[in-house]
Amino acid sequence: INNLGKKKQVSWVNKSLMKNKPKIADIYTKEDISKIIDKEKKVAYCRCWKSQSFPFCDGSHTFHNTVTGDNVGPLVLRE
Ligand code: FES
Repeated sequence: INNLGKKKQVSWVNKSLMKNKPKIADIYTKEDISKIIDKEKKVAYCRCWKSQSFPFCDGSHTFHNTVTGDNVGPLVLRE
C-alpha cells in the first residue's frame, strides 16, 4: 500500500519517486528551459523514473539497463 492508500502494482513504471502525489507533472516555461540550456547547452530529461534528480537524467538508466536488459534513455534537448 502506498502513501495514497493504493495497492502497489509490480507493473508500475514509477516505483519510488514522489509517491505521495496523485500525479507527477512538471511544467517548464520557455524561460525556465532557456536558463537550463544556456548553462549546459543541453538538458536531458529522465524517462526511466530512476533518476535521483528527476525530472532530469542523472545517468541511472545505465544501471537499470544493465540489470534488466531494458533500453531506456533520456530525452535530450540541445540548443
Ligand atoms: Fe532516467 Fe537517465 S536517469 S533516463
